[in-house]
Amino acid sequence: MAIRELVYLGDERLRQRAIKILQVTPELTKLAADMLETMRYHDGVGLAGPQIGVMRRIFVAEIPEPEPDSDGTPHPYAGVSFVLINPEIVKQSRDLLEATEGCLSIPAWSGCVERAEWVEIKALNLEGQSFQMRAEGFLARVFLHELDHLNGALYVDHITDYQKLWNAEDEVRNGENPSHDP
Ligand code: NI
Repeated sequence: MAIRELVYLGDERLRQRAIKILQVTPELTKLAADMLETMRYHDGVGLAGPQIGVMRRIFVAEIPEPEPDSDGTPHPYAGVSFVLINPEIVKQSRDLLEATEGCLSIPAWSGCVERAEWVEIKALNLEGQSFQMRAEGFLARVFLHELDHLNGALYVDHITDYQKLWNAEDEVRNGENPSHDP
């Protein structure tokens, strides 16, 4: 496994549509392992191919397990790592939820984005088998954010009000509370 170099905002590759994967090969297993390692190294919850310059339709996602002393309800998918190849939305809720997002390709920035509450998504796994799953809440948000990356879109594209976009480093400098409620 290896930590790959990230691609950042301003790089044209983040604006290009990734190409469908025609064959699931052992190299793809290695790529997915690298993507998961790179994502965890940067404390991310998702990473798409174009973010490491691989213009293929693949993304990984993993919501970390909560800290042992956390009293929050753990997400049902916490600690599960997902690899989705050629993902496609089958169905998604009309109801939208607004919540905070960040992106490893846009360090230090966060913003409030509306996303579907749940999404049914179909994809191939690393064995080349087709599967379909329903993701809700935060996982749905992560999947939709990563799917955007495969189509050259970024979360900031969904933000039309500048007050819904902020820089965490500015807040630390100004001594403000860095936590925002959407
Ligand atoms: Ni992102």
